[in-house]
Amino acid sequence: MKRREFISGAAASAAALAVAAPVKGQSPAASNTSVRRGTSGKSVIICKHTGTQGMGRGYEMLMNGADTLDAAIHICQVQEDDPNDQSVGYGGLPNEDGEVELDSCCMHGPTRRAGSVGGVRNIKNVARLARTVMERTGHVMLVAEGAHKFAIAHGFPHENLLTERSRKTWLLWKESMSDRDWWGPGLADPNWKAPAELSGSAAQAMNVHVARLAETAAEMGIEPEWRREAIAQVLHPPTGTIHVSALNARGEISGATTTSGLSWKIAGRLGDSPILGAGCWTDQDVGSAGATGSGEENIKVVGAHTIVELMRQGKSPQEAGLEALRRIARNYNNDMNKLRFLDMIYYILRVDGEYAGVSLWSGTAARPARFAVHDGKQRIEKCVALFQGTSVEWPPIPKLPA
Ligand code: GLY
Repeated sequence: MKRREFISGAAASAAALAVAAPVKGQSPAASNTSVRRGTSGKSVIICKHTGTQGMGRGYEMLMNGADTLDAAIHICQVQEDDPNDQSVGYGGLPNEDGEVELDSCCMHGPTRRAGSVGGVRNIKNVARLARTVMERTGHVMLVAEGAHKFAIAHGFPHENLLTERSRKTWLLWKESMSDRDWWGPGLADPNWKAPAELSGSAAQAMNVHVARLAETAAEMGIEPEWRREAIAQVLHPPTGTIHVSALNARGEISGATTTSGLSWKIAGRLGDSPILGAGCWTDQDVGSAGATGSGEENIKVVGAHTIVELMRQGKSPQEAGLEALRRIARNYNNDMNKLRFLDMIYYILRVDGEYAGVSLWSGTAARPARFAVHDGKQRIEKCVALFQGTSVEWPPIPKLPA
């Protein structure tokens, strides 16, 4: 689509919205049902490659006329309910105190509304909770205890979100007495220096440390098939997260992001996922974008909003995403000694159905950075990367023993 057509279509969409906005309290699903001008009539869903369990059903929902936010939240919720997905919801890896703290935000394009929750404990389905904030309050964001009380008032069950596996992995981390936690200045500190690669006796000490972790994991009863992953999670805290953007044939678009955030984080830490504009941003006139990866870096470039605004100015989804990644690189003066410790993937969907997945690093041939898409056919596609190669897990350690 040419830029002028895209923008004039967008203007027409805005005009259509003026008469289509539902009344307060009305379900998002009850929004405008006409096909928006400037859109392609395609239904497309884009999400993180690990978030595909509910994607087929989500697409079916769109085919049956469901609201785009309902479909996106369904996909988030399937992952939140899965005890084996340690990046979101039930079974998510906890903070340093062993408490699972969940974050989520969502945006509903047709009604131009948004909701967000952060630092929520004991409530599993935070994507739905973010939508409830959007639908049932005059606010946009609730956090911590207030969000929990609000969830209980709306009938969300209070649950222990730690699975045995997550609890034991956290204990394994605790027992490793890590001196490499999140206290103290981080990567963005101007005086930060890359640690020297381990060699000689330091490397040997690390190998002993890793071997001890393996023994402790066995003593704790972490199942043999999960042990290697648990040790890797202790040594290199993952960020997880699922983002979903969904477009229906009527040209309506929405987005949602859900996460348990960075593992072993300081209690109360919020990453990018509950931050509207960073973890997710949807504008019915233009498109939707979301992120997974180093949350702190994404907040500093307001990645999802930046991408949508760049698309409004005529950039393609891929160009807009790469530009947001360049801003992350710029924040570090393109210092590859620092950027190699970061990771970021943006998931981008324009209202005409054009989409892109872009990543800071390409990954390897065997494990490329990737994303999932469904436009009638569900598949995994490779991201377009700003840098070739793989990021280095933080902190750098010798290879794990087999
Ligand atoms: N991107 C998820 C987080 O940093 O919490």
